[in-house]
Amino acid sequence: MNKDVIIICQSIYHGNTMKLARALSGKLQCRLITASEALLADLSDYKIVGLASGIYFTSHHPEIMAIVDRLNANHKTFIISTRGRPYLGNYHAALKDALTNKGIEIIGQFSTKGYDCTGPFNLIRGGNKGRPNEKDELRGIKFIDKIMPEYIQDLTAVPNGRNVSIAPQCVGCGSCIAICPMHVFDIKSNRAEVINEQECIHCGLCQKECPDQSILIHHTTRELIEIVKRHSRRKSL
Ligand SMILES: Cc1cc2nc3c(=O)[nH]c(=O)nc-3n(C[C@H](O)[C@H](O)[C@H](O)COP(=O)(O)O)c2cc1C
Repeated sequence: MNKDVIIICQSIYHGNTMKLARALSGKLQCRLITASEALLADLSDYKIVGLASGIYFTSHHPEIMAIVDRLNANHKTFIISTRGRPYLGNYHAALKDALTNKGIEIIGQFSTKGYDCTGPFNLIRGGNKGRPNEKDELRGIKFIDKIMPEYIQDLTAVPNGRNVSIAPQCVGCGSCIAICPMHVFDIKSNRAEVINEQECIHCGLCQKECPDQSILIHHTTRELIEIVKRHSRRKSL
């Protein structure tokens, strides 16, 4: 488990930023919490704090802005966002200014498009459909690789499975076991473990149900086709 890094994410609209943050925390094997949780948490032991949210009226969520008060010059930070508009422009400026004014180092920033139905996007029933997508997640992971290569974990080395991983914050509540129709999970040493990955159909129920956002499902398009093929002759559960 990576105890140096934490990602704090507020994702109030479509869960776009949380989706991206999950992919990044999975890669870093670090804790991922909401800004509301972070306002009550002790952040002093973390060396690097990721601040992530959608862009709402040209800046990050107010609770992400409020986290700045909980940080000090010993922290390093990186900034993440998803947005509706094509260009990032000045959307990170308010958060960057708040951090810089407190003498807090920013080691990098990353933004990508997110599904958005506001304003003119309404006319076309939403813009950036499906974003952030797999490519955006890979770009985000490359960004993480670049700013802190020393913390990157090789997901294939995690004894969780190739396409389904359990993040370190899992407390073994068993919600994934209860909801999974394919019996993919078990609990071992107070945390969930992937015991039956071949059965997984990537339905996403476990991810939705997990109260700690501990489950990361990741696949390339080719792997997804393999999964569909694997289950194509199935006639019942
Ligand atoms: C109230 C509100 C205000 C928004 N303002 C902006 C904006 O100023 N610029 C922009 O590019 N996108 C804006 N968006 C679109 C969101 O930034 C985008 O959909 C983002 O991916 C949402 O992230 P989330 O699903 O993690 O909350 C806004 C969305 C909402 C709901």
